Amino acid sequence: MFDIDWYKRIAQTAEKGKFDMIFFADLLHLIYPSRAAAGMLDPVSLLSALSMVTDKIGLTATLSTTYNEPRRLSTLDHISGGRTGWNIVTSQVDTEARNFGRDKHPEHGTRYEMAQEFVDVVTALWDSWPQNSLVMNRASGTFVDESKLRVADYKGKWYSTQGLLNVPSPPQGYPVFIQAGSSDPGQDFAAKVGEVIFTAQTSLAAA
Ligand SMILES: Cc1cc2nc3c(=O)[nH]c(=O)nc-3n(C[C@H](O)[C@H](O)[C@H](O)COP(=O)(O)O)c2cc1C
Repeated sequence: MFDIDWYKRIAQTAEKGKFDMIFFADLLHLIYPSRAAAGMLDPVSLLSALSMVTDKIGLTATLSTTYNEPRRLSTLDHISGGRTGWNIVTSQVDTEARNFGRDKHPEHGTRYEMAQEFVDVVTALWDSWPQNSLVMNRASGTFVDESKLRVADYKGKWYSTQGLLNVPSPPQGYPVFIQAGSSDPGQDFAAKVGEVIFTAQTSLAAA
């Protein structure tokens, strides 16, 4: 499971079988010692490699809104020619928080509040350097039409930015948004942002 050839085989088989996408889960800690087999490679690096050995299949990475940066998926969307999906999760436990310099993982409702803000900030940053601003005219010496740049001037409760991202907007505009919230705030968030909803149900009644 730490061998890229194994993933390559899976991705190419799924593509040959006409699947729409492959998706990699991500946890930000190792459940040790009981479930060390839940170790996993970083999905963005993994999918960057797989984007070079596939042509069509969608490539979905899980990235936590609680512990992340906006730039990474934008780059993957460029590398893969617009095949990126984002499984938007909020992470789950204190051991993940401790890997990122915090003592406690934020409580459930707060996490979803943060997640909505994170999506707002990230999309503002992705929009800040639109594709159509790229002129790249050597003769005139114009690289970018600066009148089309939009500084992401965002100040929220949890995140703020006053930035232009240094990566032009993703080829798809945004990656495909996937959400798997099943609590009340989770379902609200999923209904707002999700283009694909993941759901795992253990009984027909609950489903
Ligand atoms: C198919 C599926 C995949 C998921 N993948 C991840 C994951 O990779 N990482 C993660 O932290 N949570 C993952 N989750 C958990 C969800 O993000 C969410 O926390 C969970 O469904 C509980 O919903 P709630 O947060 O609204 O309580 C996944 C859930 C489902 C159903």
